[in-house]
Amino acid sequence: LNIWTDLCGIDEVGEGEAKAFLIGPKRLCAVNDGQNFFVVDDLCTHGVAYLSEGYCDTEECVLECPLHGGLFDYRDGSAQGDPAEKPVRSYAVLVEGNRVKVKL
Ligand code: FES
Repeated sequence: LNIWTDLCGIDEVGEGEAKAFLIGPKRLCAVNDGQNFFVVDDLCTHGVAYLSEGYCDTEECVLECPLHGGLFDYRDGSAQGDPAEKPVRSYAVLVEGNRVKVKL
């Protein structure tokens, strides 16, 4: 049983960048902090905005929502700054060869 779903190639997300990927009905945000890849739900829990379209801060390990500036830790999805309160879901990631895989 393979629990890992192929998401993207390791070179599809630049260092320090966040990028959206669609898998079936899911829209995921992948972050490459230069060392590791992280994947969270792309839709903000505060409103209708995509975290992949906001600022990715690899010093603080947060994504800043482009709409109201809510902050989410991309390592675990936790809300880190107003008006974000509810976490976004985060996903386990496996890098295998040159592919990034997620456990959905
Ligand atoms: Fe993301 Fe409001 S929609 S902080």
